[in-house]
Order: sequence, then C-alpha cells, then structure tokens
Amino acid sequence: MSDRELRPLPYGKQSIDDEDVAEVVRVLRSDFLTQGPEVARFEAALCEATGARYAVAVANGTAALHLACLAAGVRDGDVGVVPTITFVASGNAVRYAGGSVAFADVDPDTALVTPASIEARVSELAAKGKRPKVIVPVDMTGAIADLAAVRAIADRVGAVVIEDAAHSLGARRLLDVGGRETEVRGASCQLAHMAILSFHPVKHVTTGEGGAVTTNDEALYKELCDLRTHGITKQGLEQSDGPWYYEQRVLGFNYRITDIQCALGTSQMRKLPAFIARRREVARRYDAAFAAHASVVRPLTVAAGSDSAYHLYVVRLVARDGEDEAGVAARRKALYLALAEQKIYTQVHYIPVHRQPDFRRAGMGHEHLPGASAYYASCLSLPMFPAMTDADVDRVVESVVRAAG
Ligand SMILES: Cc1ncc(COP(=O)(O)O)c(C=O)c1O
Repeated sequence: MSDRELRPLPYGKQSIDDEDVAEVVRVLRSDFLTQGPEVARFEAALCEATGARYAVAVANGTAALHLACLAAGVRDGDVGVVPTITFVASGNAVRYAGGSVAFADVDPDTALVTPASIEARVSELAAKGKRPKVIVPVDMTGAIADLAAVRAIADRVGAVVIEDAAHSLGARRLLDVGGRETEVRGASCQLAHMAILSFHPVKHVTTGEGGAVTTNDEALYKELCDLRTHGITKQGLEQSDGPWYYEQRVLGFNYRITDIQCALGTSQMRKLPAFIARRREVARRYDAAFAAHASVVRPLTVAAGSDSAYHLYVVRLVARDGEDEAGVAARRKALYLALAEQKIYTQVHYIPVHRQPDFRRAGMGHEHLPGASAYYASCLSLPMFPAMTDADVDRVVESVVRAAG
C-alpha cells in the first residue's frame, strides 16, 4: 500500500450508522429538542446495561463527576483521593466542589489505582486529623478497579466511593460483594455509591458530548436530578401560588443533556453488546500478536476474573538492559512519531495529573508516585474501535514491532 492509500487509524473513533442518524432526525422533527421523553429512555437503557437502579444523564462526564462530588457532600476544605493516572476531569471535579486532591499511585502493569496507595493517602490525612470525603477509583482503559478493596477502605473512614467508569461501560469483574464473589459490572454501583459515565465520541457509545451518574441510592438520585437543573424542584411543594410553582433549594447548574443527544445515545446503546464484543476481539488479536514480541512491547495486564470493556488498548515499551525511565520515554516518543508517519495516530493516556502545573500551583500533586511514573514513561494507546478490521490490527502490530523492535 502506498502512503496515500494508507487508511488513517486514530486511537479511538465512534461508529454511527443510518439507524442512529434516523433517530436524531426523528427527534429534530418532534416537539421536544430538550427536556422531552428521550432523556428518560436513554437513562432506562443505561440502567438496564449497567444494572444500576438510577441513572441521571447530563451534559458530559465532567459534569457528572462534578454533580457526584456535590451529592457526596464535597465542600470547601474537603479532600478527595484520586489516582494520578486519569483524565484531569476526575481531579477537577473535586476542586469544582471546593475540595483538594490527594493523588494515589497506580500499578504500572494495569494502570489501576492500588489500594495500598489509597491507604497511604488516608494515613497521611489521618495524621493531620482529616479523612477523605470521596475516593474516586478510575476503571482505566476499561478494566474495573479493585472496587471491593476501595469500598472497604471507604467504609472504614466514612468516605463516599465515586467510580469513574468513563472507560468501563460493559466491563465485568469478579469481586467480593458482601463476602460473596460476585460479577460486578462497570457503573453498576454494586460497590460504589455513585459511578459516572462519559459519552464522548471515543467512548463505547456516544451522544457527541454527554455523561451520566448512576446510583442505587434514591436520596442521591433525587439530589443529582435537582442539581442537574439549577437545584430547582417541584417535588413535595405546596402549589398554593399555582401549578407553575417551583423552588431553588440548593445552588445547581444547567447540566442538562438534550433529547437530540439522548436519541442518539439510546440508539447507540442497542449496539453496545456488539461494540464491546468487537473491541474484545480486537484486543485478543493484539494480545496474540504481541505475545511473540514480549521483549519489545507488553499489553497491560488484565486481572484474573476481569473482562475489560477495552475503551483503550494500551501497550508498554519494555525497558532494555540498563535503560532508565527517560530512555524508555524517549523511545516511546520516537515510536509515537514513527507510527504517525504511517497514519497510525496513537495517544498517551495519561500525563499523571499530579504533574499538571495548575494542580501544583494549587498546592496539590507533590507526591512521588513511582508506579505512575513508570507507566507514563512507557505507555502508548494503540488504535481500538469497533470498526477496525483484522487487517487494520495486523498493520498496527507490524508497524509497532518494526518501529520499536
Ligand atoms: C477517565 C475519565 N474521566 C472523566 C472524563 C470526562 O468525561 P467528558 O469528556 O465526557 O467530560 C473522561 C473523558 O475523557 C475520562 O476519560
């Protein structure tokens, strides 16, 4: 294939078909573009897929995180424990609510937060007479974090668990729930108090921009609904002024999602099982091919009993004899650039959030987090989306091995 014929392969991409387009057009021609019936339909589809009792669809995943932090009671001076390997939004949400972030480390082989690191942050806070208000485990790349261990810590210190499931819609993991090994689904809230989802186009299903909070707790659900619309409610109020009467009880936001977006989301949700199945096939093909090159690159480890939803497919460059992190990072940069020349557009997920200048300026992020450092130096997210063909996967593998070998 000549350069001009090479199909560009981004690291992630939406799959939109005629049925999705028809659903959006149907809503555009209907009476409600927003605050109509499509939002509840989409929320019902999310509940069915995740197993959570309630879903509150909102404008984006960041808004979902913000509302979850507020509903968890994060206020000025509170602290949230957040892994440093995540999108900045997971930490920003704690800050929007007035809190600060204590960053936890990850296992470089899985990119998942380690319970030991959460314990370390909890102990440091305890030494200052504090405890975290929220703990935000992130299901990085689509593999569910050890939510059982996180919940046990949270219960001990009285913290609320907000699962950042932006990557894990459709994921499963066997975990201990109430003493029994149970299949836990991403955003199911079997172990977390609340979970958040994102429907950005690179995610498993898309609404353009969009997000949701799921929960099994009715009180949290009602609060999230109010916060989504300015903190306004009509529930349980005397209507003596007239039927229009409402009250703003708390300071909320306009974080509503439109019916146009939700119609797309519901249509996409019908294809979620097929999307996830194809992502898993792509991952298996990558895994099998890279197994023959284990001295060059290694896929992330997926824990036994864990069935990733593969939002991302991450490989790590293997350090050569005597090579330090800076050496690996330099080769990773070269690999990224060489793949881009082949129109294979990889990405790095993520720059450790504790290194971000804005967090440091705000007095956070001075921890030494060696797991995150090793992971960040070596990781690369390869193309992973349902419309990839087997030939696309083979092309990526060949290019990676040629450039990195
Ligand atoms: C782990 C994680 N959390 C939160 C978000 C925020 O979601 P959104 O982009 O929909 O605001 C993202 C989005 O990329 C994410 O990857």
